[in-house]
Amino acid sequence: MSKLFEEIDLGGLTLANRVVVPPMCQYMAADGLPAPWHEMHLGTLGISGAGLVIVEGTGVSEIGRISAADLGLYNDEQEAALTAMLSRIRTYSPAKWGIQLAHAGRKASNEPFDAPYPVPPEKGGWIPVGPSPIAHSDRWPTPTEMSEAEISQAVQSFVTSTQRADRIGFDLVEVHAAHGYLISSFLSPIANKRTDGYGGSLPNRMRLAIEVARAMRKVWPASRAIGFRVNGTDWIEGGITVEETTELAKALRECGIDYVTVSSGGNARGQKLPPLVPGYQVYLSDRIRKGSGIKTMTVGMVLQARQAEAIVAEGKADMVGVARATLDDPRWALHAAQELGGEIGYPKSLWRLSAKNWPGYKIVHELPEAAE
Ligand SMILES: Cc1cc2nc3c(=O)[nH]c(=O)nc-3n(C[C@H](O)[C@H](O)[C@H](O)COP(=O)(O)O)c2cc1C
Repeated sequence: MSKLFEEIDLGGLTLANRVVVPPMCQYMAADGLPAPWHEMHLGTLGISGAGLVIVEGTGVSEIGRISAADLGLYNDEQEAALTAMLSRIRTYSPAKWGIQLAHAGRKASNEPFDAPYPVPPEKGGWIPVGPSPIAHSDRWPTPTEMSEAEISQAVQSFVTSTQRADRIGFDLVEVHAAHGYLISSFLSPIANKRTDGYGGSLPNRMRLAIEVARAMRKVWPASRAIGFRVNGTDWIEGGITVEETTELAKALRECGIDYVTVSSGGNARGQKLPPLVPGYQVYLSDRIRKGSGIKTMTVGMVLQARQAEAIVAEGKADMVGVARATLDDPRWALHAAQELGGEIGYPKSLWRLSAKNWPGYKIVHELPEAAE
């Protein structure tokens, strides 16, 4: 029996299997609104066979967007557009649906698709904010140091977007606290040189993450899940370490956070990335999972069904995020299920792909009914 295709409970939420399509920015939005592309792209991923699809990093405020082409969830129009889109996709998609809520912090106001190509205010961009007035590198602008009032406002933006995600009907929200964006930069001693209660010691650097976690858990139903994407390491001397992130994961678990997605990097230009071989971040998930007791999702170069199966079977992660391999093969999870003998299959309208109708091709099962 495949472990990858076993159900998993995240708090009160049950996923049909442990394959996740993680968030992937499309840079196709205008004014934070989804484009027809989003419906087509996400609709395809919604019948990929993955138990969970997480919508791309979505700005909790206008200045929290990586670029002007990011999705946003900070006004009524965006909420209405995402509600309509998700409801249409769910007509056919049996997957559970999450959304990643993000504030880009000092890495905001970029050209879409590539970084660092900052867009200054005179060209329609804005001055980004961060924990300290320290630029990511000489190619990035110096952010404005956030006041305590601005930090409270940022926490409130996460809360308001979470309430919007609740009304839209998402099953899960994931907070982007990795890759050098706002929360990640507060966590990292490289970006955070504050001398107040948000800087210095690990508990201080964790304070923003914990405030966001507590405030979101208060407004998000217990029957649905909240996760955090974190950096297992900054890949640089003096940056956040796996030991520190394990402490963060323990604290998040105590706040009622259901899982962490373990990624890495993005806080400093001088980072020394390891060779990006298959599963290069799995050991970070393994360490954090065992050290903190929280459920984890691993991401990064998970390419093959048997590789994903082994990660879950060996207890190195509870879920496996398959990003680019699913872009390349949007039926990645269905093909993995066939290979591993999991109980999922193609949507009804693709009945011609059954063994009876396509001799020689392995039998597939019908996908379970779409959610209401
Ligand atoms: C096109 C693209 C957009 C991405 N956007 C996001 C994002 O919005 N939020 C995030 O946390 N990670 C983002 N990522 C990172 C992926 O979620 C994933 O962690 C990374 O691609 C490694 O997994 P892979 O090797 O399976 O692609 C993005 C990756 C890609 C390829």
